[in-house]
Amino acid sequence: MNTEKKYLDISWDFRTANVKEYTHCYHNYPAMMIPQIANRLINLYGKKAKTLFDPYCGTGTSLVEATLNGINAIGTDLNPMARLIAEAKTTIMELQILDLYLKEFNDFLFSLNFGIKTVNVVVPDFKNIEFWFKDETKEKLAIIKNFIDNTKDERVKKFFLVAFSETVRESSLTRNSEFKLYRMPEKQRDKFKPDVFGIISSKLARNRIGLKEYIEKRKDTKTIIYDFNSCEDIEKIEKDSIDIVVTSPPYGDSRTTVAYGQFSRLSNQWLGIENASQIDNQLMGGKAKNISKVGINIIDATVEKVAEQDEKRAKEVYSFYDDYSKSIANVSKVIKKNGYACYVVGNRRVKDTTLPTDEITKSLFQEYGFKYKNTFIRNIPNKRMPSKNSPTNVMGKKATTMNNEYIVIMQKQ
Ligand SMILES: C[S@@+](CC[C@H](N)C(=O)[O-])C[C@H]1O[C@@H](n2cnc3c(N)ncnc32)[C@H](O)[C@@H]1O
Repeated sequence: MNTEKKYLDISWDFRTANVKEYTHCYHNYPAMMIPQIANRLINLYGKKAKTLFDPYCGTGTSLVEATLNGINAIGTDLNPMARLIAEAKTTIMELQILDLYLKEFNDFLFSLNFGIKTVNVVVPDFKNIEFWFKDETKEKLAIIKNFIDNTKDERVKKFFLVAFSETVRESSLTRNSEFKLYRMPEKQRDKFKPDVFGIISSKLARNRIGLKEYIEKRKDTKTIIYDFNSCEDIEKIEKDSIDIVVTSPPYGDSRTTVAYGQFSRLSNQWLGIENASQIDNQLMGGKAKNISKVGINIIDATVEKVAEQDEKRAKEVYSFYDDYSKSIANVSKVIKKNGYACYVVGNRRVKDTTLPTDEITKSLFQEYGFKYKNTFIRNIPNKRMPSKNSPTNVMGKKATTMNNEYIVIMQKQ
């Protein structure tokens, strides 16, 4: 028996697992959590849980797993596109109703494709739309969006919008292999003729299969998705009301790690979100602050070490951990006595320093009255983010990112 509390456990790798079961197939997103990890954490620490909370819920992986296990789910995220996906993934409806809309939509596309019908729609005019979409693509996207906007059933609307959002990205002139927005080279652009109607039809068909599986297994539960920033407040959630938190926070600020806002920008613009280009600045560590002491030794020492090499990078690291500390202080308040916080984190490198986010997470929760239980270290075989990442915003400049994730388990005393 392993008496160490922190150890590599390859059974958390889920090397061959199907990560696209149920509604997890709906939409791609950077650094998604592996559903099997959320499910296992729930089974280990949330067997009797009534409510799960994810303060960085992204597309709702842990919320879906909660609802499959009979647990109510609460999530929050600052990215509107992620919230839309999380809402759609946890929404059930009668398949007969959905099928009526799908038939109507497919008939509509058929009549457009064969010239039986023509429609006049207003193409949106957001900044740089010309740069990212060809004229024909823009028009087809606008036709689809118009159809969806006229859908009466809100559940069906979300289901369609999620497929639309992925279609936006795939039919844009973005290089799809990158999470950040980089335009295709000219030669590729010239040849690029996305079958917009075909793309959305196949996504809708795929997602319907996922929804059917989800409906069959989902228990009678409730889900709420908020848009608050847990670094600032947590008032919408009652104190001592959460049995288990299962979450994967960002690895660092969006500018130098994963740019969730930039990944989602075109979709958010098509969805009519104002300030879609400002989202990354609002996420954890997005606003650079002047360095001062956080008061947690391991954080202050880490920032100091980075500062010896690079003051600017140290500021970014400080800003991120300052926000992270505030978020954990808030999250701690809403967890019940004996409840669990399960954080899946990565220890990225900045310059020559490995940032010990797992140890920092542990120290912060200890500060707020939690007992340390375990850290499971997993390899990232099916990592849903690039194994190489751009440490700066310079296109093509890559550095190897982490190969491990740390699943930190804390229990409130
Ligand atoms: C690693 S992703 C979570 C992915 C999620 N587990 C999934 O499977 O889709 C981190 C998320 O944190 C969100 N985020 C970053 N800072 C935030 C903040 N201060 N408050 C709420 N959400 C934030 C980002 O928008 C992003 O969706």
